[in-house]
Amino acid sequence: PYAGIPHLPTPDSGLDLLREGYAFASRRCEQLGTAAFRARVLGVPVVFMRGREATRLFYASGLFTRRGAVPPFVKHLLQDDGSVQALDDAAHHHRKAMFRGLLGGPEAVGRIREMFIEEWQRAVRLWSGQDRIELHRHAQVVLTRTALRFTGVRLNEADVRRRAQDLAAMVDRVALVGPPNWWARLRRRGTEAWAADLVERTRAGELSPPPESPLAVIAAHAEPDGRPLSPQVAAVELINVLRPTVAISRFLAFAAVALIEHPAWYEEFAAGKEADLEGFVHEVRRRYPFFPAVPGRARETFAWHGEEVAAGALVILDLYGTNHDPALWDRPEAFVPERFRDWDGDPDTLIPQGGGDVATGHRCPGENITIELMKETVRQLTRGMQYRVPVQDLSIALNRPPALPREGVLLSDVAVV
Ligand code: HEM
Repeated sequence: PYAGIPHLPTPDSGLDLLREGYAFASRRCEQLGTAAFRARVLGVPVVFMRGREATRLFYASGLFTRRGAVPPFVKHLLQDDGSVQALDDAAHHHRKAMFRGLLGGPEAVGRIREMFIEEWQRAVRLWSGQDRIELHRHAQVVLTRTALRFTGVRLNEADVRRRAQDLAAMVDRVALVGPPNWWARLRRRGTEAWAADLVERTRAGELSPPPESPLAVIAAHAEPDGRPLSPQVAAVELINVLRPTVAISRFLAFAAVALIEHPAWYEEFAAGKEADLEGFVHEVRRRYPFFPAVPGRARETFAWHGEEVAAGALVILDLYGTNHDPALWDRPEAFVPERFRDWDGDPDTLIPQGGGDVATGHRCPGENITIELMKETVRQLTRGMQYRVPVQDLSIALNRPPALPREGVLLSDVAVV
């Protein structure tokens, strides 16, 4: 049904992209009746794509590299040279196997889940003394403590607040240009120095994190040529475990919004009925906006629907648009966890954390952890605590990535059950 990769008639789409945010590419695809189009953004030619077929091309073909694809002001907050995101082919496989070993298996997922439950319950006791709490900010602290423990870093109370702020700022401020972003970058440098020091002290035997922990494994990791990672790259990979774990706070906030807006689901989970719990979590990840898109650069010229895309072209795969593609999802804007009851599990359709095969491509290795901590949060919010929901604006603006309800989800009268 799709005809080629048309050019947008507008000379530059930078302002439209800022105004429309997550919805920009989907609107154009729907107007043009295509799954891809060409545009200029601040003078740079870009191919936007969405949908199952585009996802398959983006992840399975080996045609794209992340190198040179990310604007520098985002890159220095979210990834760095020499880290797993920037690697290709055999070097990427080798590093990715380390991440999958650290994060993917049931043992690691169970370990972080236990830590998360302890930290959540500890936090609920603190929240119960307060008038009202902003769930998103507090979840960032719970997740920072969880992430530090899981990573093998001993908790130092004075340090926790600082790390929580720094790790959160890397995600909160990615889309900002100018001083708030520079400030986050500066703090990122501080976090890197802190992480590099942990790696060096572990190597020197001054720290002894548990052998299965990310700090121990990353410090000991050998490259294919047998050499250890440089302290800088090891620090970045350690932050690649810490920062996105703290970022799960957004999905936790969205799960809370979904429970507030769909009280029948609250009742279901409060009654201990969990048949649709995983579907609920998938639907939160599908429906609410987080990571908008991933960029890649074409490593060679290729053809798609009879049209050529030149080597070096910047291609942006629209994650949010694919999660809302009407060709894949019936009534995509509706919140319907039941849709996952007979879902075929196609890896290129539900892609909030990237598509394709996690082992061979860049798909997120933290997906199992994310899903498990979201499930646990739903349990805690429906069975582990009591609270009221004060009147507030729960709407989520689509033009300010990364998105969040304006007030960060307020809860009042929290009580331990
Ligand atoms: C990669 C999203 C949680 C670690 C990615 C990518 C996305 C993503 C979109 C890039 C895919 C690509 O380049 O094609 C998310 C979201 C999360 C989340 C929305 C929920 C908050 C996590 C967690 C961890 C993690 C909990 C680790 C504990 C990573 C790493 C990569 C990655 C290391 C790079 C993989 C590679 O380049 O091969 N994630 N992620 N993520 N994520 Fe996540």
